[in-house]
Amino acid sequence: MLFRDALLDGQRVDLRVVGATIGAVAPAGALQPLPGEDVSLGGMLTPPSAEPHVHLDAVLLGERVPNVSGTLREGIANWASLRPTLTHEDVLERARTVVGWYEKHGTLRIRTHVDTGSRVAVEALLALRAELTGRVELQVVAFPQEGILRAPGRRQAWEDAVALGCDAVGAIPHFERTTEEGWQSVKMAFDLAERHGARVDLHCDETDDPGSRNLEVVCAQTLDRGFGGRVVAGHCTAMHSYPNPYAAKVVELVAAAGVQVVANPLDNVVLQGRYDSYPRRRGITRVDALWAAGASVGIGHDSVMDPWYRLGTANLLDAAYMLVHVAQLTGEVEMARVFRTLHHENHLPFGAAPTIAAGQPATLLWYSASDPIEALRTRACPRVYRDGVQVGVQVGA
Ligand code: FE2
Repeated sequence: MLFRDALLDGQRVDLRVVGATIGAVAPAGALQPLPGEDVSLGGMLTPPSAEPHVHLDAVLLGERVPNVSGTLREGIANWASLRPTLTHEDVLERARTVVGWYEKHGTLRIRTHVDTGSRVAVEALLALRAELTGRVELQVVAFPQEGILRAPGRRQAWEDAVALGCDAVGAIPHFERTTEEGWQSVKMAFDLAERHGARVDLHCDETDDPGSRNLEVVCAQTLDRGFGGRVVAGHCTAMHSYPNPYAAKVVELVAAAGVQVVANPLDNVVLQGRYDSYPRRRGITRVDALWAAGASVGIGHDSVMDPWYRLGTANLLDAAYMLVHVAQLTGEVEMARVFRTLHHENHLPFGAAPTIAAGQPATLLWYSASDPIEALRTRACPRVYRDGVQVGVQVGA
């Protein structure tokens, strides 16, 4: 199989796949087709994309109990009513379906949160992780949706989920009862991660309250405990509303600590700003400022047809497309960087992004779009190759 004159990391190249491996990468025009070789002309080659933040336990539940108002509050209430009804097979079946959609769109690594308030969901997603081995790399974050200090039993369920083998420890400090208890929950998450050799991935300051200041505590803990490169702070929407001098301090701290901030623009643009009249704030963290400071930013889809967000296709290009709009990242270089994030920085929770080079596994994406901006504009599915074999279209999104 030969890709001729394809864009790879800003260069036009020819790339030959031999069996399961990339046989050669050379400047465009250097490789000639062999007799009978399958040839694709033009387009773009990238590593597979990675999803750093989704909730697979809740996917496809949005139609079961409709969120009439479309608000975060009703979403939380609907999820709370559905959670006791979950069964192992139900969670597995819905999560499997959406993983198939991700795969179709070229996403072969997925980090899912699971609500530790449901032991059923925790066990189902850990079983799915094993089932997907060799196909999609799944990481599971022990996420206490309703906090760990608000009521008896929640801390124990959260600790039990980590003991069952979750990859990362979650928390939701802005949802705890007091500011102090929020900070305490952050430290407890690091303690638990240290005990189990796990990573840390917090829902952090997902509110429009400029007084929500947990991210600085996450950064301080990361620095003090040497956790740099193993911590993700998801959402961080309060940063949008911080006074500029304070935001500047926190952004610098994020970069220094090596904490990755994951923006989830699809959910947050509709769930945040709900207590505003006009003008209404956008609930998006400060991506441009984080980039300028040298911090790492990921882009998550967060929800796929769940109680919080009734839409969603498991196509990360949709999340990227929303981000360039609401964060006003429509400069040529900015749009290209947003596209590149899906195939590079989004892999950081799993380690490094796969490389495309001779001798590496032929696990890659081929977009018919001629450049990153065209790929964002059309959001068309790439062809997905795993070890040299094209992944078949499975379930339509
Ligand atoms: Fe989330």
